[in-house]
Amino acid sequence: METNLSQNDHSTDGAAARGSWGSNFGFIMAAAGSAVGLGNIWGFPMQVGKGGGAVFVMLYLCCVVFICLPILVAELALGRSSGRDPIGAFQVTKPATPWWLAGALGVTAGVGILSFYCVIAGWTLAYIWFSLSGCVGQAPGAFFGAFVADGSKNVLLSFAVLTITAGILLGGVREGIEKASKVMMPALFILLVLLGARALFLPGAASGLAYYLKPDLKEMANIAVLNAALGQAFFSLSLGMGAMITYGSYLSKKTNAVKAAGWVAGLDTMVALLAGFVVFPVGFSIAGFNPAEGGPGLIFSVLPNLFASMPGGALFGAAFFVLLTLAALTSTISLLEVPTAAMVDRGWCRRKSVLLVTLAVAAMAVPSVLSQGAVAWLTKVPGTGMDFLSLMAVVWNNWALPIGGLLISVFVGWVWGADKAIAELKAEGNSFPGARVWAFLIRYVCPVAILFVIVMTARGMFAG
Ligand code: TRP
Repeated sequence: METNLSQNDHSTDGAAARGSWGSNFGFIMAAAGSAVGLGNIWGFPMQVGKGGGAVFVMLYLCCVVFICLPILVAELALGRSSGRDPIGAFQVTKPATPWWLAGALGVTAGVGILSFYCVIAGWTLAYIWFSLSGCVGQAPGAFFGAFVADGSKNVLLSFAVLTITAGILLGGVREGIEKASKVMMPALFILLVLLGARALFLPGAASGLAYYLKPDLKEMANIAVLNAALGQAFFSLSLGMGAMITYGSYLSKKTNAVKAAGWVAGLDTMVALLAGFVVFPVGFSIAGFNPAEGGPGLIFSVLPNLFASMPGGALFGAAFFVLLTLAALTSTISLLEVPTAAMVDRGWCRRKSVLLVTLAVAAMAVPSVLSQGAVAWLTKVPGTGMDFLSLMAVVWNNWALPIGGLLISVFVGWVWGADKAIAELKAEGNSFPGARVWAFLIRYVCPVAILFVIVMTARGMFAG
């Protein structure tokens, strides 16, 4: 999986200097590395818990297939055709219009998402050690609560995550990361299958599976659940903020971007579903477990119970959190890369760009850290009923990403034009079997469905 990315400094002097992915497989692993992360293993089970179980899972799958997969294809097409960062992609495609603002929204979302994402990645980092040393003890929930309330420790942990991410971007060792993801992604997958197999033999497995797989259809009409499912699908696939535009801009015309999109979406969805097969059987084997109350601590309070029940559990636990941390890092890289690329394309040098963006993210991360118990008013931000970290997740995932996705689908479907995008995707003799279906989805289904969810959610909010 060789790429030329490390030689590519987004110089503004034309596409030739930007380099490209070395192979199809390399691109799929890097894009899947961006997609597969905390969103799948930490976020998905938590959202299923909040959204009432199987109904959420069903809505989520519909969002992935009918809305997100077409947008993933659209982002890749726009990136590849323009060969630019998200702001530049809109500028090059439709110069002298305000469309570049859609790219700017994405760049801002990158900073916002990373500001809370690095906090959770810091927790996974700490849990490598906690699993090995066995200090989680008999009451993992209480341990987790006490741990996250320790503000200074967690500030250091999230800064450590940001420092590693910045170091990787600075050193240009994306080749190293890609090579690592080729090993890491399959390893994470195998470990999840093993854990799932163990979880299925726990005493609560049957009720856990029923909760996870049997939808309570009354909940289908709940617009908040639909909004959460859509936001989660965008987040999990790294869509709506131009991460895939940026990655698409490194694609060669020879790559079949449609097929690659299918792989990325398929892998990402499989990892998320697997995480549910691990978390819910384990959760329901614990007395008094209420999935709806799990919140951000869900996997940290539930999974140690699984590890404790297994021979060699300390090692399994540590291995799990190592892989989860690495999966998180391939995602933080793509998040930091978007604002960095945007600054570099505006004439900043790469070093300064990385430094400035990282400092901004670090400053924004502090309130998210302190909202987990250290500072009282941040644990319930007035007027929202949420802690600051959860508020950030809602603002960026449930609002900024769907709005970004709406803008991208309108832009590609109507402004740039679905036909031009299809011609781009079919370059060099690549096949695109469902092209007409895709055009229909991107022009009509995506904008209408996303707009519907946004409007209904806003109405619900303002109606109280
Ligand atoms: N998809 C990643 C996850 O599931 C998070 C992520 C990385 C992301 N890059 C992104 C989310 C860009 C939205 C946009 O953990």
